[in-house]
Parts: sequence; structure tokens; C-alpha cells
Amino acid sequence: MSMLRDGAPATVIRRQDYTAPAFWIDTVDLTFDLDPAKTRVLNKMTLRRNADVAAGPLRLDGEELNLARVLVNGQGTSFKMEDNQLVLENLPEGTEPFTLEIFTTCAPAKNSKLMGLYVSNDSFFTQCEAEGFRRITYFLDRPDVMASYTVTLRADKKKYPVLLSNGNLVEQGDLDGADNAGRHFAKWVDPHKKPCYLFALVAGKLVAREQRIVSRAGTEHLLQVFVRAGDLDKTEHAMNSLMASIAWDEARFGLPLDLERFMIVATSDFNMGAMENKGLNIFNTKYVLANQATATDTDYSGIESVVGHEYFHNWTGNRITCRDWFQLSLKEGLTVFRDQEFSQDLCADDSAKAVKRIEDVRVLRTAQFPEDAGPMAHPVRPDSYIEINNFYTVTVYEKGAEVVRMMQTLVGSPADPLGRAGFAKGMTQYFARHDGQAVTCDDFAQAIADANPGSALAQRLEQFKRWYAQSGTPRVQARGFYNAQEQTYTLTLSQHCAPSNDQPSKLPFVIPVRMGLVGAQSGQALGLHLDGNSHGHEHLLVLDQPEQVFTFTQVSEEPVASLLRGFSAPVILDMDFSDAQLLTLLAHDSDAFNRWEAAQRLALRFAINSIAATADAASSSGQFLSEEFVEALRAVLRNPQLDAAFKELVLTLPSETYIAEQLGVVDPQRIHAVREGMRAQLANALHADWVWAFEAHKDSGAYSPDAHSSGLRALAGLALGYLCLAARDSGDTVWPGKTLQRFKDAGNMTDRFNALHALVGSGSPLAEAALARFHTQFKDEALVLDKWFALQAGACDRGGQVLGAVRQLLNHPDFTLKNPNRARSLIFSYCNANPAGFHRADAAGYVFWAERVMELDAINPQVAARLARALDRWKKLAEPYQHAAREALVRVAAKGDLSNDVREVVQRALAD
Ligand code: TRP
Ligand code: ZN
Repeated sequence: MSMLRDGAPATVIRRQDYTAPAFWIDTVDLTFDLDPAKTRVLNKMTLRRNADVAAGPLRLDGEELNLARVLVNGQGTSFKMEDNQLVLENLPEGTEPFTLEIFTTCAPAKNSKLMGLYVSNDSFFTQCEAEGFRRITYFLDRPDVMASYTVTLRADKKKYPVLLSNGNLVEQGDLDGADNAGRHFAKWVDPHKKPCYLFALVAGKLVAREQRIVSRAGTEHLLQVFVRAGDLDKTEHAMNSLMASIAWDEARFGLPLDLERFMIVATSDFNMGAMENKGLNIFNTKYVLANQATATDTDYSGIESVVGHEYFHNWTGNRITCRDWFQLSLKEGLTVFRDQEFSQDLCADDSAKAVKRIEDVRVLRTAQFPEDAGPMAHPVRPDSYIEINNFYTVTVYEKGAEVVRMMQTLVGSPADPLGRAGFAKGMTQYFARHDGQAVTCDDFAQAIADANPGSALAQRLEQFKRWYAQSGTPRVQARGFYNAQEQTYTLTLSQHCAPSNDQPSKLPFVIPVRMGLVGAQSGQALGLHLDGNSHGHEHLLVLDQPEQVFTFTQVSEEPVASLLRGFSAPVILDMDFSDAQLLTLLAHDSDAFNRWEAAQRLALRFAINSIAATADAASSSGQFLSEEFVEALRAVLRNPQLDAAFKELVLTLPSETYIAEQLGVVDPQRIHAVREGMRAQLANALHADWVWAFEAHKDSGAYSPDAHSSGLRALAGLALGYLCLAARDSGDTVWPGKTLQRFKDAGNMTDRFNALHALVGSGSPLAEAALARFHTQFKDEALVLDKWFALQAGACDRGGQVLGAVRQLLNHPDFTLKNPNRARSLIFSYCNANPAGFHRADAAGYVFWAERVMELDAINPQVAARLARALDRWKKLAEPYQHAAREALVRVAAKGDLSNDVREVVQRALAD
């Protein structure tokens, strides 16, 4: 127990306390009489005692249920309620199976938490991960209890013509009897055992896009994407993504679809992105619906990733699941890794693959690194939690994926330098051992290592697993020394990880450092000779000690070290490169990731220097970036060898959040001013180049969301943004006018939204009318309205106007706090994605935040707790922000009836 602020105890769940369940549930037969106000659930189970566990009562989890009847082997029985558990003490002795029948009701229409069974747009949906099944019936709601499910759904046929659950449809028809006029039923049997968090049902007026496919092995499958009538024209991309996912998992890992039927259903009320329920994935509409008129390129690639992600869970998560929720990264880290690899493999060329990698790393560094340095820091495999929903984090997902990626890298060999073949062998071993089981992260790592004996991973497996156990981002310090006489280059690498509250000292990690040497003069890739061996032009160093020295011989010219290529480990690399060295890497590195990284390092360096400068020399002169750097960026922009998508990434400055992360004390207004100054400098200094870039890339042809044409649109959009920014300073009206015209004429949402963004972002007088026109045009498209809200909440704050606008939008007829997508589009965009608008010297942003956290908590604690995390990094803030932020946190923490979700977040933020 931990005593929370208001004295109410909250149970801390600890990984070390794991014990196997006292009972197993073998079969579950559920019958639902669906009614929004009062749904009746009959749950008939067969159970048996777990012989390995000392005899004890059966404790079933249940939440917000009305219990009507309990029968054991058909007879009434005694039971008691303890907290949220139904406790049965008088059960048959021995390990013979017995039946348990439980009859309950619940109220789906009142379920605003969107966990368990709920109603959205007059249809029924479920969300059971992590602990939602207990809101449907009493159960052993834990992932290591796997059962066979039979589900019968009964409902009004007109209102709910489509009745879906996991597995195969075995029977359907009209119900007879006087009480059942107009009602029908459907019976589903799932051929695979599963934990209850993978249970799902859907009932409502839905239509489906259907596709029949034949697998490599010749089996036939039916694929269906269910949406509301009217949305069918937005399902093609999701279906294509699903077919590509199925083909990819067969090709790369030999994992086929194991069901006759695979269904995706979209709902507009959903707490997260999507859910991998066996054979019946339920998706946020944001990750299903797209056509060129309503969705941007980013939306298209999000759909591809999430459809892939949920499909890949069918093996990594569903066939092999987690023993307990501390092992969440077993399925999430691995499945994010798989969806990243999937999207990369779909890219047509190396440049597009590098762009995808850069985008993934950008997410890791702007979201996960701060998490790992803040109050919610936790290992990839956490040791304790109060509310498991708070641990669906970028650490478990994205850092977890990096841990899996490092395993792949570390099973590489000269014949398989990237480790892809070795890793695939490891996956085969994992399924051979554990198919159908609920296992731990240790089991996974062991399988990968055992399949690759002698690999760098197998040699250091125990040490490698510290990545699962230790929180925090390690720093790798690199020093290089070139001896021209001897033609040697000595590279010293050392590692350090700052202590955290839970872990006062950290042991060395195993850090794979993919590297090369680039000639400082020639720009050529230099041959790598180490310990008498020749390694071509790229080599993997494995840092597993606090400090290691590597001496390269036959180094014919002074080199610049290109370290951590492709971001081979989730660490911070400290190396004091000169500007000239970074410019060399930017111009010549054969590794696209490190070319981009060199530009980011330079931009960051200029930003930090300007922020630190006491006199506002830079601000008054408009010179933030050096001449040489601006010239180098011009060269990238004009380089005919480089792809548009890559150029767009190089020419995008590091975000304010990422800049803040580099500083000990954060003044969000100062960061914003400096970054805006840098943007203005690029807008003006490269004006002619932006004009060229826009004209040369503005027509991407007939719309297709592929990487190449979306790159053209991204670069044209960036150019337009800079041109509107330059126009604001110069008073030019031509470019804003052209931008407005492009906004009106655009043939796709990407171009239209980029133009609108350019107008709003530059504070153009044309922005207001454009926003109004956009609203009128898309007032019936919920996902487009989300963009409309988000754009205004995230707008550049010139004079503090954004908060007022956001408060007004709260009262807009299209706004509702009950819909998570809409709440995120307005409130999260303001509190999380607009640092300068949010961190106000008058504290009004924090007051707004506290009000919304408390208001949302009463509706949907899971979403409220995510918003609560917007002040995670308050201790880094300069005054007056720090004091005001603390006050806002204290105000929320002091509220009496907070959910565990929000309490855990604010309590951790305030702890010292
Ligand atoms: N397992 C889901 C995924 O693919 C995550 C998820 C969806 C989730 N909905 C949720 C987690 C609700 C917690 C609560 O990543
Ligand atoms: Zn997942």
C-alpha cells in the first residue's frame, strides 16, 4: 500500500509478487443480451484447481457489475464480495473440472471510460486490454489464464444487424419466442485459446469492405473492414495495408494467418490507436479511414503502421502472450519493432528506409528520452505500478522496440551483417518453444540467443538484459585521436547512466555501436582495420565495459568518426565534433541517418548557444546559424542526388521539446523565440531556394501515398511554410496569396493542410478566412475537424492569443470532451504540442490544464492521466514557470476523488 495525498490507499502491484493462478479456466461460454441501458451477461465456465498452487478460495475480478446469480455445478452456492472481487470458498476439492455460472448485468450506455462494453454511435464495442474484461463479467482477469471461448450475441435485428466476436461464425438466425420479436442472434467460436484481454464483441449498423485471399500455403481467408455506412470509400488503404501485412509476416518470419476470417472494425470513440483482439481488431477510426480528400500522407503511413502492428500481434501477443502485465514489452516492444521493419521493408529504396528510421528515432528522442529522465521513468520491464494503463508508454513500446532491434543487430555475422537471418531464426525458436503460452521477456531473449550460439548477444545475454531492468538513457562518450605518423586512430568509448530514484546506481549496458570513418579532407569512406582484421567500410563495435579503447590502423588520412549509424542503440552520444567535422559528415557520410544527425547537432548547437547568450546579439542581427551551416543546408536542398523526403527532414529544425531536453533549466519562451529566429533566418537566407523548391516539388502527380510522392509534398509544404514566414517579415503579399490559392485548389488533404498550416503558422491575415472555409467544407468529417481543432491549438503564439482561442473552442458546438480524439485534438495539442502557448508567465496555461485534467478524470481516467503527464518535466522549468506548474499539480493532487490513473501520475510528478 502506498498512502496517497488524500490518505486513500492505492495498491502497488509488484513484479516480484507474481504467483501462478489458484485456478485455471478451460472454457468460457458467454451469452449477451445486448441493450444499451442494461445488458445481460451469462457466463458459464469450466474451471479446475491449479495443482501447483496451495488450495485457496477462487477470487474473481469484477467492476461496476450487478450480480444476479452464481451456480457451481448447477447448484446455488455461498459467496462474498471483497473489494472488487467475488470470493468463492466452498468449491469442490481436488483438481476435477467443475462448472461455474455467473449472471450479471452492466450499463454500456453509461460507460464513458471506454473500457469493457460500451456504446459509440449506437453500436456496441468492447475494449478489454488491460483489465476491461472484469467490467463485462466476473473473471480471473489476468493474461496467464487462457481459455477457449464460445460467444452468443442476441440483439434487436434492426438496430444491430451485424453481430461480431472472435473466431468463426458457427450459427446465426432469428430468435423465436414472444419476448424475442425482431431479435436475432449470432454464435461465434474461437478455435484458439486466449487470455480474456483479447476478447471482443461488436454489434451495430456496420458495412464491410471484403477481400478474399489465398495464403502461400494455399489456404483461403476472408478479410473484412467494418465501418459505418458512408465510410466505405475510406477503407481501401486499410485493406491494402492488411494484405501487405499478411504477406510480409509470411515472407519475413514464416508466420501465416491462422484464422479463416480476419476482421477490423472502426470506432470513433477509442482510448488508444487500436486493439489486437483475436480475429477481431478494433480500431480508432483515425487508423482506418482515409481517402485523399480527407487524410494526409502522415495519416496514410499511420494506418499502414497500426494495421500492421495489430496484425503482427496475432503471433507476437496472441499466440504467445504475456505472463503478467510487467512483461508488456514482450508483446509491445517486439510488435513495434515488427511494424517498423514492415514499413521499412515496404519502402522502395534506401533513402526512404532511412527516412522511416529517422522518423522513428525522432519519436524516441522527443518522447521517450524525456520520459526516461522524468518522474514516470521506468525500466522497459517495470518493477511496480499502481495503474497498469499508465504503463502503456513510449518506454515499453518504443524503447522496447529498440531493445529488440539491438538483439537483431547483435546476432549479426559477416554473412548476415544486419542480423536479419539470425533474428528470424530466433523468432522460429521462440515459437517452437512457447506457442500457446504466457511467457516473460527473459523467455524471449533466451530464445533469440539460443538460436544464435556464439553471437555477440549469446556471449553477453545476462548483461544485455539490463536493458529490460535499468531505466534511464545511457550516455556514450566518444573521444578520437589521430596519429598521422603512425596512421592510427584511437577511439575511446565510455558509458554512463545517471542514477534514478528507484535505481541509485546502474551497471554497464551492452551497447552496439555501428560505425565508420569518413576522411576529413576527401570525404571518402576509409577502410577499417582493427586488431589485424580488415572490416570493409562499416563495423559493429560492442561496448560492454565502462570504458573501451579501439585502435584503428592504416588510417590514411585524418578521419571523422561516424558513430551509432542508423541509431544502433537508444543512447545519447557525446562527442565534441567541431563544426567542420559535422559539416563533413553532413556532406559525405554514407550513412543517411548520420548525415541528418550531423545537421541536427549543428542546429542544436546554434540554438543552445543563442539561448545561453545573455545579450540578444543574435536576435537583433537575425544571425543564429553560421554562414557555413546555412550554405550546407542550401547544398542539401539543391542536391540532385538526394530525395525530397530526406531534404525535408534535414531542413526541419529540432523541435522545441527536443531543444528543451538538452538544457538543464528550461525557459520555454526563450527556446521558442530562438527557434523562431532560426526559422526566420532560414526563410530569408534561402528565399530563392524555397521558391525553387516549391515550384520544383509542388506537383506530385495523381495522388498516391507512397514514400516518394509524399516526400515531394512534404518538401513543397515546408517550402511554402518558409515562404509565408518570409512574407510576414517583408510585407510580401504574393506568397500568402499563392498559398491561399493552393489551399483552395488542392487535390488532396496533404497539400491543402500544408497550405493552411503555412498561413496559420505565419500569422497571415488570410488565415482566419481559410480556417472558416475549411470548417465549412469538412464539417461532417470528424477526423478532419480534429485537424482543424489541433491546428488552432498548436498555432504559433504571437502575443499569447492561443489560450483565448482554445478556451473559445471549448465552447464550439463541435467540441466534446467525451470523445477522446476530439479532446486530444484541442487540449493535448495545446498542452503537449505548443510549449510557448502553454508555458505562460501568468500561469493561465497551467490553470487551464488543471481544470481539464479534473474534468476529464470524471469521464475517462485513462485519457485524463495522459493529459496529466503534460507537466512531467516541471522541475526543469525556469521561474516563474516552475512555481506555477507545481501549484497546478498540487491543486490536482489535492482533489478528493481522483482516479488511480491520475493520482499515480501527479503523485510521481510531485515526489522528490
Ligand atoms: N494493445 C494495444 C496496442 O496495440 C494497446 C491498447 C489499445 C490499449 N487499447 C487500449 C491499452 C486500452 C490499454 C488500454 O498497442
Ligand atoms: Zn501493440
